[in-house]
Amino acid sequence: MNLKIAVLSGDGIGPEVTKESVKVLKAVAEVYGHTFEFQEALVGAIAIYEKENPLPEETLALCKSSDAVLFGAIGDPKYDNNPDAKVRPEQGLLKLRKELGLFANIRPITAYDSLLEKSPLKKEIIQGTDMVIYRELTGGIYFGEKKLNEDKTIASDLCEYSQIEIERIAHLAFKAAQVRRKKVTLVDKANVLETSRLWRRVVTALSKQYPDVTLDFLFVDNAAMQMILNPSQFDVILTENMFGDIISDEGSVIGGSIGLLASASVGDGTALFEPIHGSYPQATGKNIANPIASILSAAMLLGHFGLNEEAKRIQEAVDRTLKNNIVSVDINKENPSSTSLIGDVIAEMILVDDQSISS
Ligand code: IPM
Ligand code: MN
Repeated sequence: MNLKIAVLSGDGIGPEVTKESVKVLKAVAEVYGHTFEFQEALVGAIAIYEKENPLPEETLALCKSSDAVLFGAIGDPKYDNNPDAKVRPEQGLLKLRKELGLFANIRPITAYDSLLEKSPLKKEIIQGTDMVIYRELTGGIYFGEKKLNEDKTIASDLCEYSQIEIERIAHLAFKAAQVRRKKVTLVDKANVLETSRLWRRVVTALSKQYPDVTLDFLFVDNAAMQMILNPSQFDVILTENMFGDIISDEGSVIGGSIGLLASASVGDGTALFEPIHGSYPQATGKNIANPIASILSAAMLLGHFGLNEEAKRIQEAVDRTLKNNIVSVDINKENPSSTSLIGDVIAEMILVDDQSISS
């Protein structure tokens, strides 16, 4: 298969982790005889510095003309503490999501057996966790009208949803549930928010088309609690943009590190694959960041194009590195492996497919 992949490494640790997933994708291409063409472009703070625009025209054009986008991370502390900044790195990612019509962000969360002891949560609680969050990505409060009065004493962000926006992601969530454990949990705040009541109405009506899937509901505050009390109860979680952002970071605690969580953003056009973690500026350039979230995002990219065997080969290699404790400092403080070493080992496992490597 020929795939044109736009590589947007972005800020902080983005370039370091993305480099490792490109390495791994190249190994996959070699083993399976695919042609992956990688083209890099600027996004985020680095794009502001170089082009005064967090999403330069040429970056957007490249993404639109590519088959997939491999995204690193975005963000710079310089902007985090400056509420007056008009141009912000995050705008690059938000605009890209909107422009590519990436309305569904898919975030799987699993507890790896080999890491059960690493989570701050008890082993008995996290064991068997296997959920996927379907987070709406191009609507809600992130994209509603923003206002700030002149003397900067009153601000507002509008949260708006339409039936169509809810239906299109709900269909994806139900279809995913059909091939999993057949359960969708809608997370909302329907006791307070009108948008949440719309979600309930629309999703309930749509669920009739999927009689084999059970639908239940949780208020987001309760969901936040249930996710760490009893995470294995969840199969597919369907939720709006901001709730999904928050609970997916919470969910990362289950797996032992946010550095393991991958995501796919899909919709109308080119799909985008990115780790859910941020730019982690403190670790930039130190070769200590965990590349696995990015590498697993690359596996999701392959799965998106039906290259399931290839995706599985990456997942198995990742499993083996975890089992063999070839992990970064977020998981193993005493004897950590570097970002590039983990990438090398995973690429090597793919190339030789030798179960004996580092076991
Ligand atoms: C994420 C990130 C982004 C979000 C930021 C960087 C805008 O936290 O992808 O989860 O809030 O969506
Ligand atoms: Mn987030």
